[in-house]
Amino acid sequence: MNNYIIETNNLTKKFGNFVAVKDLNLKISRNKIHGFIGPNGAGKTTTIKMLTGAIHPSNGIGTIDNFKIGSKKGRSSIGYAPAESLFYQNMTTIDYLVYIGQIKGLSQKEAVEKAFSLIEYFELDDNAYRKPFNFSSGMKKKVIVAQALINDPKVLILDEPTANLDPTARINIIEILKKLISERDLSIFISSHILSELESLVDEVTLVRSGEIVLNGSLHKVKNIFNKGQYQIDTSNNNFLKKYLEKNCNEFITSIEENNKGLIIVNVENENRYKLESVISPILSHFKIRLLKFVEEETSLDEIYKKIYDSKQNMR
Ligand SMILES: Nc1ncnc2c1ncn2[C@@H]1O[C@H](COP(=O)(O)OP(=O)(O)O)[C@@H](O)[C@H]1O
Ligand SMILES: [Mg+2]
Repeated sequence: MNNYIIETNNLTKKFGNFVAVKDLNLKISRNKIHGFIGPNGAGKTTTIKMLTGAIHPSNGIGTIDNFKIGSKKGRSSIGYAPAESLFYQNMTTIDYLVYIGQIKGLSQKEAVEKAFSLIEYFELDDNAYRKPFNFSSGMKKKVIVAQALINDPKVLILDEPTANLDPTARINIIEILKKLISERDLSIFISSHILSELESLVDEVTLVRSGEIVLNGSLHKVKNIFNKGQYQIDTSNNNFLKKYLEKNCNEFITSIEENNKGLIIVNVENENRYKLESVISPILSHFKIRLLKFVEEETSLDEIYKKIYDSKQNMR
C-alpha cells in the first residue's frame, strides 16, 4: 500500500494562459495533520478543488488513498470543508447534516444516526434545531467541519478553516481537529495563509507561492532550516566556559557574549552547528562543569513566513 494518503504528480491547473497551479508534487503522510500554506492567490483553493474532483487538472495526476483523484472512490475517501459555505435559510443543523449524509449515499436511518453523533461530538446539542444560516462564523465553521465527516472519510480536507474567525472560535476548531486526529483513523489536509496560526496543530507543511512548492517537510525540519545558529548556554561556570570557547573554538564560533541574565550566547555559521554541539559535552565533562541549559534559538514561524513571502519578486 502506498504510504501517502495524498500524492500528486505534476498536478497543474491553467485558466486560459494563466498557470494557477504548476507541476505540484504533493506527498501527504497518513494519519498526520498537513498544513498547506501560502498567501492569497498562491493556488491553495485551486489545488484543493482538483483533489476533491470539483475541477479537472490541466495536466498531471494524483491519488487519494490510492484512488485516482476525481474518481468515485477517490471522492468518497474525502471529507471536504470548503472555505465558503452556503446554508439554506430555513434548514436546521440536524436537517442539514442528514441532507448532506444522504447526498453522500447514506440511507435516511444511517444519516440521522451519524448526524446526531456528530452533533454530540461537536457539542452542537443546543443548536441542533436552530438554523446555521443565522449562526456566528465560528459556529458555522463547526457545522461545515461536521458535515465533512458524515461519510467517515479517510482524509479531511479543510480550506482555510480558521480564516475570519475570532481567536476563541479559532482555538475551538483547532482543538476539535487535534481531538479528531488522535481518536480516528484520519489524515487532515488543511490550508491557511497564516503559518503561525497552525503551529500547535500541524506535523508537516507544504509552502506554496505562485502555484509552486517553495518548501515542504516536517514542521521541525522547516524551523530548523531557518534557525540562525544561535545558542543559549548556561552552566555552573559560565565565566570559564566562555573564555575557553573564545580561546579554543574561534575557528567555527562567529561571536560569543554574555547576555544580561549571565547566559552565554554563541553564534555559529549554520554549517558549523554540529561542531558546537559535539565539542560542548567533552569540554564540560573534562572540566567538571555542569550543564544547566543548551538550546538553539528558534526562528518564529512569523519570521519564516516573512522571509519566504515578503519580497517584491514574489508578487504575481
Ligand atoms: N476560475 C478561475 N478563473 C481564472 N483564474 C482563477 C480561477 N480560480 C482561481 N483563479 C486564479 O488562480 C490563482 C490562485 O487562486 P486560488 O487557488 O483561489 O488561491 P488561494 O486559494 O491560494 O488564495 C489566483 O490568481 C486566482 O485569481
Ligand atoms: Mg483560497
